[in-house]
Amino acid sequence: MKWTPGELVAFTARVIYEVAERGLTLDYAFQKVKRGWRPLDSFKVFYDVSFDAVRHYFFLKFAASRLFGSSGAKAVAKAWFIYKADQMLYNRDMVSRFRKRLLKRALAAPGDVLREVESLRGDPARYLSIKYSYHPKIVATLLSHLPAEEVEKLLDAGNKTWIWLRINTLKADVDKALKILEAEAEVETHPRIPFAVLLKSSKRPVQYLEAVRRFVAIPQDLASVYAVLSLKPEPGDRIVDLAAAPGMKTSLVAQLAEGRAKIVAVDLSQKRVARMKQLLRRVGAGDAVEVVRSDSRKLKTRLFDKALLDAPCTSSGAFTKEPAVKIYPRLEDAPRYSRIQRELLKNALELAGEVVYAVCSILPEEGEEVVGSVEAAPEKPLEDLADPYGRGGVGGRTFPHIHRSEAFFISRLRALR
Ligand SMILES: C[S@@+](CC[C@H](N)C(=O)[O-])C[C@H]1O[C@@H](n2cnc3c(N)ncnc32)[C@H](O)[C@@H]1O
Repeated sequence: MKWTPGELVAFTARVIYEVAERGLTLDYAFQKVKRGWRPLDSFKVFYDVSFDAVRHYFFLKFAASRLFGSSGAKAVAKAWFIYKADQMLYNRDMVSRFRKRLLKRALAAPGDVLREVESLRGDPARYLSIKYSYHPKIVATLLSHLPAEEVEKLLDAGNKTWIWLRINTLKADVDKALKILEAEAEVETHPRIPFAVLLKSSKRPVQYLEAVRRFVAIPQDLASVYAVLSLKPEPGDRIVDLAAAPGMKTSLVAQLAEGRAKIVAVDLSQKRVARMKQLLRRVGAGDAVEVVRSDSRKLKTRLFDKALLDAPCTSSGAFTKEPAVKIYPRLEDAPRYSRIQRELLKNALELAGEVVYAVCSILPEEGEEVVGSVEAAPEKPLEDLADPYGRGGVGGRTFPHIHRSEAFFISRLRALR
């Protein structure tokens, strides 16, 4: 069934409301609104527009207040149509007619609003927050660690979508997988990681690509790949993954160890453990991994050679994937997470001589300060990682403007025995 631009704006406004006022993630909000909507042939455009509107929320809210004298969800969705519809909707006539209609009662011209945003440059925190649409707390955090020009590049790059695929060599070799992929998509292989490819364009959404449906290629952010590479898994290793579900990194551990390591995957959440068992089976790592539900802070077990700790965290570095993080970064939860991270890391060092600690967070409280708090020798595990916070190389970071990835902190620690 056909949709109208008015309907698109109304739908987007509902999603914006669910994210901005009720704190839902983009996918939850989208599914909730979709359930109450009339059936459409495809909701793809509605999803893409909702994602884009949430991603640009702070700019659109500012623009909405100037154009319509309101910063409510409906006005924000209308502002999306005025500034962004051209880039996402193919029907130029429809866009221009509806845009004109929206602007009939506008209080300002769209160009004047853009000039007003540029005039804020003298106040970098406010300017960057509005221009690139990040919560002021994210901008302030980054500005306290990095020069303003670098923060601007980071925030700009964080508004792009980078889709990395990991060739699953448990299912097919790289050449064969690339052939299957290239029949439907244009990809770029990472210069130093032959099994990591960036999706440049594709004929269909990533989850419908033949290679992805057959688990020959698995969508996995490059930052996660770096975390697992830092562990250097090898055949014969005894490895424990202490916060493993849903198992994406565990399955790469199995892949890099060529299916010949003894791997134990632990997670506290029953639901996520069930999902992990299913995922590991599907990607061909089921036989290589023993799955355990346990609290990894208390786990007392045999010794391992290596431990991976992809710790629970604020996810404040996940803004390239989850645009709701840009509106609600939940940085105030950092002290609680930091406590759990320290407890988990301390026990990881009891269980294994070598530990890789990773978090998807921009905060030193969850990164550099956690690895600095335990009795161990932390280091930057890979040359490719950056150390922009200048904390003496106790770990490395990934950033969208440098690595075209999510923002992670990764450290390798050796237990002092
Ligand atoms: C960042 S996620 C892990 C993602 C996973 N490594 C992957 O790549 O698919 C953090 C995980 O830690 C788990 N977790 C939280 N507290 C835990 C604890 N005390 N012991 C074990 N797992 C815990 C959560 O259930 C969650 O699945």
